[in-house]
Amino acid sequence: MTRLLAFTTGLFFLSTIILAFLFIKQADQSIKEQLAIAESPLALAIPVTLSGKELSFRRGCTNCHDLKNTLLGPSFEAISMRYSRDLQAHETLTKSLREGSSGKWAQIAMPVQPTERVSDDEAAVILDWVLTLAPN
Ligand code: HEC
Repeated sequence: MTRLLAFTTGLFFLSTIILAFLFIKQADQSIKEQLAIAESPLALAIPVTLSGKELSFRRGCTNCHDLKNTLLGPSFEAISMRYSRDLQAHETLTKSLREGSSGKWAQIAMPVQPTERVSDDEAAVILDWVLTLAPN
């Protein structure tokens, strides 16, 4: 009876150890896989797609522009409303970004937003987003 008990207990401990070992190995493997994905050139090649809203924050537009309120610059909603019927809006606003803008909204001018600050692709995403903001 004692021998049986000792045997079962032994078996129990042994299987626990084996299971623990397998579990750790599995976890280690998945961490290695994740690291491999993060470091692969493929991951670097995939451009991070941020929304216009997020980009406007990261590229510093929101230092001067709020969604609804006038700060140094007009609100993004007001811009969207003014240009809602303008088929050239995207080009006009891109030009304003690249060349700076003054006298259209207030006494304060918007300084040139150079490509080092906001790339062409990013500017397009931001402006597309801004132009959707006019309440219908
Ligand atoms: C230093 C403050 C400042 C920053 C930073 C800034 N703006 Fe402006 N923005 C202004 C001001 C001021 C005006 C109004 C200019 C005017 O009256 O013509 C303006 C105007 C605009 C307009 C309307 C232009 C037009 O032709 O009617 C758009 C669109 C715009 N900004 C987008 C952006 C975006 C996108 C960014 C970020 C990449 C940005 N702004 C960063 C201050 C700023």
